[in-house]
Amino acid sequence: MTPMEKTLVALVGMGTVGTGVARLLLDHGDRTARHAGRTLWVQHIIVKDPTKTRDADIPTGLISTDLTRLLQDSEVKVVAHLLGGLEPARTIMLQLLESGKDVVTANKALLAEHGPELFDRARQLGRTIAFEASVGGGIPIIANISQCLAANQILSLQGILNGTSNFIITNMQEQGIRYEAALQEAQRLGYAEADPTFDVDGSDAAQKLAILAHLAFGARVHWRQIPRRGIDHIQSHDLRYASDMGFSLKLLAMARLHAAGLELHVSPTLIPKGTPLAEVRSNFNAINVVGDAVGPVFFHGQGAGQMPTASAVVADMIDVAVGRAAITFGNLKLWSKQPPRVDLRDHAHTKSKFYFRFDVADQPGVLAQIAGILGRHQISIASVHQYDRDKDLTTGTVPLVIVTHSALEHHTGLAQREIQNLEVVRTQGERLRILTTEN
Ligand code: HSE
Repeated sequence: MTPMEKTLVALVGMGTVGTGVARLLLDHGDRTARHAGRTLWVQHIIVKDPTKTRDADIPTGLISTDLTRLLQDSEVKVVAHLLGGLEPARTIMLQLLESGKDVVTANKALLAEHGPELFDRARQLGRTIAFEASVGGGIPIIANISQCLAANQILSLQGILNGTSNFIITNMQEQGIRYEAALQEAQRLGYAEADPTFDVDGSDAAQKLAILAHLAFGARVHWRQIPRRGIDHIQSHDLRYASDMGFSLKLLAMARLHAAGLELHVSPTLIPKGTPLAEVRSNFNAINVVGDAVGPVFFHGQGAGQMPTASAVVADMIDVAVGRAAITFGNLKLWSKQPPRVDLRDHAHTKSKFYFRFDVADQPGVLAQIAGILGRHQISIASVHQYDRDKDLTTGTVPLVIVTHSALEHHTGLAQREIQNLEVVRTQGERLRILTTEN
């Protein structure tokens, strides 16, 4: 029997995901070989601290800190670049490309920040960057949008794209666990970034949305241009009130094509229970894509965590090794100097139903004042709920929840600020979008 051809590969970085990738390549080489028609042979694993204990069975001699040795090893063709953050991740990716290696990455922050530079450089050098694991963890959303749905004009995309936020909200909602405890558990389970700020403030989801908007709509948007709010301010009583009204709260990344441009934002959003997005729990992600030919397609899977993310990285390594990724990368011309195919819609002009919660003095005339302000801003009220069970008996303050009909983002923001300034309103309150079929 002729021995199977080998493609030499390497890993740079061996944190949570890197360890998962090493386990798949080293423990399940037969699987990857079957799909690639060749062995993906791990030649180097480059780490910062070789003495660290790792949860994988790594043959001696494979791990080192010697990046130069890898860069000079012209036999290595494919590198899984598994470093977080922006630097030295950016410099090392450029060095890998310049030394003739194709690169697979899960680092969405790096692509969302430096995509144009990295992709341009890869094109100039005739190299490939594959990035399936950068969005949706184990869900193959990049391949689906860029290949399987290629016959469609994508009309909209709604995604739960941050596993950490979804894990926190699910635990607060279902177990009554406090925000801080749920975040700590997400960190322990390896879902959160090293600094979880971007997970919970909507930035991580905006970075992923920028990548998807680029692929699905040809938008050229820097993630910081995407209006975003996270779940870091969410209070557990809003989750309860929303649940009483038949909604689950999710951190939703939204992209929707209008004649006036592409609506893009990341917002904590109330979603009717029983609909697929509302039922996405724990560290799972989901993306609902609507194409003009295919109609709605729903993707669901683990969006964060060691093995789901490693699954996407290793699939990319196979695609790169067999040459499929180079074809897609060449055709997509991502972040090239071509003009965008779509402009962004002004966020102020986007519409939604809204949930407002104000903590108010329980006295005559309060509702009339609030309703007057909403009316002046052309916001129509759909229902009002007062939660006497949560009344503060010392101050006489009671939560008042108002659900509106569809209204402009701009108007609801102005009305919220005006209402917050009323003497009878005691806290900042809350304003949340509500997802309906018509908005
Ligand atoms: N921290 C990210 C999340 C990991 O929680 O979704 C995947 O990008």
